[in-house]
Amino acid sequence: MNTASPFTSDPAVRYQQTRIEHWDDIARRSDHWRGWGGYYHRRLTEVYRFWVAPGQRVLELGCGQGDLLAALQPSVGVGVDFSSEMITRARQRHSTLRFSQVDAHTFEIDETFDVIILSDLINDA
Ligand SMILES: C[S@@+](CC[C@H](N)C(=O)[O-])C[C@H]1O[C@@H](n2cnc3c(N)ncnc32)[C@H](O)[C@@H]1O
Repeated sequence: MNTASPFTSDPAVRYQQTRIEHWDDIARRSDHWRGWGGYYHRRLTEVYRFWVAPGQRVLELGCGQGDLLAALQPSVGVGVDFSSEMITRARQRHSTLRFSQVDAHTFEIDETFDVIILSDLINDA
């Protein structure tokens, strides 16, 4: 999806490229080390489970490897992330969910959802 020239002068495109490279790198590293965020992610999952009952139609923008989305046990779960390395791992880990590799700014879908989650995305967007 990242077809822009590496020499582009458009700051928005350069920012997007930089962030995609960053998150691709994080995804590759997570194959060997899950980081210090275990407690944080468990707590996030508890909080989202409190608000989102199983069986809902859930869209997550910036879904990473899809673990939060999967933990919510949606009847329909769609995850969106612009990092190809994240989306590859999400598809391998959660085969019953649907994942799209696309920037959340331009994502479009002709479906309705009960819940749309942006967890730890806004600080990046
Ligand atoms: C901190 S991780 C959060 C993962 C998950 N939402 C969670 O809470 O566990 C942020 C994710 O958002 C993705 N992301 C950041 N900006 C994005 C954008 N503009 N469009 C799509 N994905 C984006 C990154 O690739 C990364 O996988």
